Amino acid sequence: MTLSELNSALPISPTKAHFIPHLMQILVHTRFFARESLSGGEQGYVLTDASTLLLKDNPMSARPFLLPMLNPMLTNPWQYLTTWFQNDNPMPFHVVHGMTFWDYGNQGATIALFFNDAMASNAQLISTLMIDDCKGVFQGVDSLVDVGGGTGTVAKSIADAFPHMKCTVLDLPHVVADLKGSKNLEYVAGDMFEAVPEADAMFLKWILHDWSDEECVKILERCKEAITREGKKGKVIIVDMTVENKNTDKESGETRLFFDVLMMVLVKGKERNEKEWAKLFSDAGFRYCKITPCLGLRSLIEVYP
Ligand SMILES: C[S@@+](CC[C@H](N)C(=O)[O-])C[C@H]1O[C@@H](n2cnc3c(N)ncnc32)[C@H](O)[C@@H]1O
Repeated sequence: MTLSELNSALPISPTKAHFIPHLMQILVHTRFFARESLSGGEQGYVLTDASTLLLKDNPMSARPFLLPMLNPMLTNPWQYLTTWFQNDNPMPFHVVHGMTFWDYGNQGATIALFFNDAMASNAQLISTLMIDDCKGVFQGVDSLVDVGGGTGTVAKSIADAFPHMKCTVLDLPHVVADLKGSKNLEYVAGDMFEAVPEADAMFLKWILHDWSDEECVKILERCKEAITREGKKGKVIIVDMTVENKNTDKESGETRLFFDVLMMVLVKGKERNEKEWAKLFSDAGFRYCKITPCLGLRSLIEVYP
């Protein structure tokens, strides 16, 4: 697309048009667009892999995830780190909104939808990768509970890929109310701190990084009870980041560190390194864990009692 095509595609005021080349410079610098020389010498711009992920009609679109991340509801709490460090508030999000992130999500359908759609768009990306590249992790699993599974995007993909498997999504009542399951997928409303339905495997994607060590140990203890009933020995499958992953490039390392602070700002959680993960599992009574950094920024962690 040339600048003149861009000018006519968007309703840009003639008095602002001269700013567009400046905007394009930074978008090219940050690799959201690439420059292309067109015949006749005019300068054109093309989408890159990064900007393709922002298109509405891309099935892997990251747009529903990015929009809430950039919304003042989630960016304002970053301004209150100093206040939070100096008072007893549980997290900067609470300083701004007067309640926890989870209570805030429970306040109204619009907010819940905003957040659940964000999670679902991210889950779509991961579940495709996980089922294509890490199928082996589900071998021998006949039943699975997606603990804090949101609206069930990952569980639906697992249920479709493994039709023999009985899948259950456990989440808070306001998240799973009105959701309909299918032949091998059901939704259960509950609290993962209280009880988790019994199954061969517990699946936790982007759950433990939301919580403190003490809270994670409680969730893991509930999971352990659920996979060890009647003398059985199942496993817990976790998808979360591992910081200080040695195979990391500078940008991925930086993203992990920002996620670490994001968890502190929003939910009192944190990203963990291998040693911190191992301690958590041991404190919850598990004996063995295997961490495989195979999902981009995320690792697949298998934990056994
Ligand atoms: C960061 S989201 C992850 C959702 C989903 N696992 C994914 O990755 O797309 C955390 C989920 O945990 C759920 N959750 C929070 N507290 C919970 C609780 N006490 N019991 C069950 N689910 C809970 C939230 O409603 C939300 O769906």
